[in-house]
Amino acid sequence: MTQPVASPEGLFPIARLSRESRLAFQALEDLDRAWDLGVFYLKTPEGLDVEGARVFGHGLLTPESPYRKIPNYGELEGFIALENNQQTKLALRRHRWDQYYPSDIAHFGRQLDAIGIAIIGEVLRRSGIPEALWGRASGGYATGEGTAFLNFVHYDTRAPDWGLRSHTDYGFVTVLDASAPGLQVEIDGVFHDVPVLPDHLVINFGEALHFVTAHGEHTVRAVVHRVVSQRGEDPVRHGIVYFANPDLDGTLWQFDTRGKAAGRCLVKDLFALLENNLTE
Ligand SMILES: [Fe+2]
Repeated sequence: MTQPVASPEGLFPIARLSRESRLAFQALEDLDRAWDLGVFYLKTPEGLDVEGARVFGHGLLTPESPYRKIPNYGELEGFIALENNQQTKLALRRHRWDQYYPSDIAHFGRQLDAIGIAIIGEVLRRSGIPEALWGRASGGYATGEGTAFLNFVHYDTRAPDWGLRSHTDYGFVTVLDASAPGLQVEIDGVFHDVPVLPDHLVINFGEALHFVTAHGEHTVRAVVHRVVSQRGEDPVRHGIVYFANPDLDGTLWQFDTRGKAAGRCLVKDLFALLENNLTE
C-alpha cells in the first residue's frame, strides 16, 4: 500500500432517498460506480435528526452519563471502553434500543433501518434478483428482520494509536455519520480520504452484500477501509455508526436473475471465514 492521496472532487457518488423511499443517483453511471467502489454519500434525508443523535453521542463523554452504565452483552454490546484502542463506544442491537436509548434515539435507529432496507433493496434490484426472493437472499433483512446495530463511537486522537486498521465490514451496509476526517477507503491499492461532506452520510457495503449479489447482474464490492487519526479542532472524533447485518444464526442465499439458487452460506460460517482471513 502506498501513501494515502487526497480524493479528487466527485470521486464518490452521491445518492438521495426519493419520496418513495428509493435510493436514487443522478445517473445510472453513478450507481454503478458506487456499487464498484463499495462506498458513496447519501444526502441526509429530511426528518432524520442527525444533530440530535450527535448531541446524545457527545453526552456519553460526560463521566456521570447514566448511559455509561449500560451493561455489556457479549463483546459487542453495551458501553465499551477499549483501553488499547483510544476508543469508547455505546453499541446496541435493535431489540435493546427501546430499553436503553431515549425514545428519540430509538426512533432515529428505526429511521436508519428504513434507509438500510432502501439501500439493500436497490442493490438487489440492480442485481436483477427477483423481488420475491429479497427476504430470503438477505437472511430477512430486506423485509425488516435481520440484525441492526446503532453505535456511538469516540476516538480520542490524543492517545497514540492507528485508529482502526484496514478491514471490510462483514454485514450488508454501514451507515456512518462522522464529525471529523479520518475515514479512508482503498481503491486499486491506494487509500483515499473520504472527506466529511456536510449534510451527508457515508454508506459502505460489506461482505454479506457482496456475497448475496455474487451471481446477480451487478455484484457490489465490500470496500476495504480504515480510520486514521487526524487532528481536528476537537481532539475527539465522534461517529454514529449503523450496521445492517444478517442474523448470526441465519443463512444467506445467492440467486441469479432468473431466481435460481446458485449458492448459500451460513452467516456464522461466512463471518468465521472473514475473521480467519483477517487474522492471517
Ligand atoms: Fe468498518
